Amino acid sequence: MAAHLAILLVEDDVALRRTYERALQRAGHEVCSAGDVAEALQWLDHRTFDLAFVDYDLPDGNGADVVEYAVRHCRVSAPYCITGTADTQTVVAVTRAGCLDVFEKPVGHRRLNALIQQFIDGAEDGGADLDAWRERYAPNILGDSPALRNVLDVVRNVADSDATVLITGESGTGKELLARAVHDASPRRDRPFVALNCAAIPESLIEAELFGHTRGAFTGAVTAREGRIASADGGTLFLDEIGDMPLAAQAKLLRVLQEGTVAPIGSNDHVRIDIRVVAATNKDLEQLVEEGKFRADLYYRLAVIPVHLPPLRERIDDIPALAEAFVARASARNGRNVTGLTADALDALRRHRWPGNIRELMHTIERAVLLRRSGKLTARDIPLKFARGTVPNIPVQSAAPIGDNLDLRAAIDALERRYIEEALQRTGGNRTEAASLLGLNRTTLVEKIRKHMSA
Ligand SMILES: Nc1ncnc2c1ncn2[C@@H]1O[C@H](COP(=O)(O)OP(=O)(O)OP(=O)(O)O)[C@@H](O)[C@H]1O
Ligand SMILES: [Mg+2]
Repeated sequence: MAAHLAILLVEDDVALRRTYERALQRAGHEVCSAGDVAEALQWLDHRTFDLAFVDYDLPDGNGADVVEYAVRHCRVSAPYCITGTADTQTVVAVTRAGCLDVFEKPVGHRRLNALIQQFIDGAEDGGADLDAWRERYAPNILGDSPALRNVLDVVRNVADSDATVLITGESGTGKELLARAVHDASPRRDRPFVALNCAAIPESLIEAELFGHTRGAFTGAVTAREGRIASADGGTLFLDEIGDMPLAAQAKLLRVLQEGTVAPIGSNDHVRIDIRVVAATNKDLEQLVEEGKFRADLYYRLAVIPVHLPPLRERIDDIPALAEAFVARASARNGRNVTGLTADALDALRRHRWPGNIRELMHTIERAVLLRRSGKLTARDIPLKFARGTVPNIPVQSAAPIGDNLDLRAAIDALERRYIEEALQRTGGNRTEAASLLGLNRTTLVEKIRKHMSA
């Protein structure tokens, strides 16, 4: 594994933060620093880290909040707490949140480096284990970004349990593929994997699909039918687009999960069932809970193991492996002789925003392969309309002066935040008008506001 790690540093003492920052950067690591909880969560919303060093007492909360968030969203592989006073209360709080260890200040560079080395050694062993596991259970999930590896590592660790897994991520990020891997890697792999797409079925039929029905249970129920829950007995039930499940069905599903029994509509004969549930959604369930559209109790029941698949633009390191594989597959399937991609083609793919994520990448490449017929795909063969290289003319003086940290994405995020704040200010907080000023549609703006302000 690379000796250059991505490290999140959370410390409110500016001088100390600078000292750590310099030492870590000198050792070749990439450091993102934050002075409070809000700033730290903003980083965590945008990317993943190998290590985190988190102070306990912070101006707007404490280190346990940061670590808890990072662990819950699979953002940091190894979180550590470095605190002024490692009293019992602090140690308990951060350990419970998921910290691997707690150190009392002062913590010198040598100590930090030892921790980092320990992480690298451990990751090398773990990395080899993960590769073997992937080959065996998830050979079709491609990509080597740290973000994807983190996700797969979580799946590997929980696959042999019956814990409910909730997979979140934008459309086309591979949620269904991952759900299948959870099943294939579990002891239930020889039993059925039954999927139900809650968005594809009319509301009125969902309950019949899930629970089944007896003959004559309702108009149109000419014969009795087994529900998906019963069909999945012994195996895995995959509830796709769970955010679209109507509230009434949610209540019944919760009861089934709590009681471990199911009765078809029209009958009171409850039969025992043994299923493992994996659910997926591209919606923000926590938000739906707040809006009263999703039951909080069901949410907690499903989100035992939350797994987030980041959008492709946040894991561009996956692009080469995916693109090469899609070229090979499209070429073979369509009787073409396209042999790969040029470096400039890969560059173009890395710059695109991929709103449709991996599905969009796959289709884009398939089209290019069909038209190209043979040789290597070049950037010109791949029409990408919305490349993010085309930055509008933004007055540079509105951005903060460029400091030591040249992380482009962080800078763009900061700029985005300023523009949104400005637009909201000018429109007196009217989101519809603000969106129009910014040239965004309203939903996109609302998502961005949540992203920035949730921190
Ligand atoms: N890591 C990956 N490696 C290879 N193929 C992938 C990967 N992730 C996704 N794909 C492919 O991309 C397509 C979309 O994936 P999938 O259907 O799992 O996405 P999804 O998150 O369920 O999308 P939606 O929310 O639209 O249902 C599929 O054809 C899948 O095989
Ligand atoms: Mg899907």
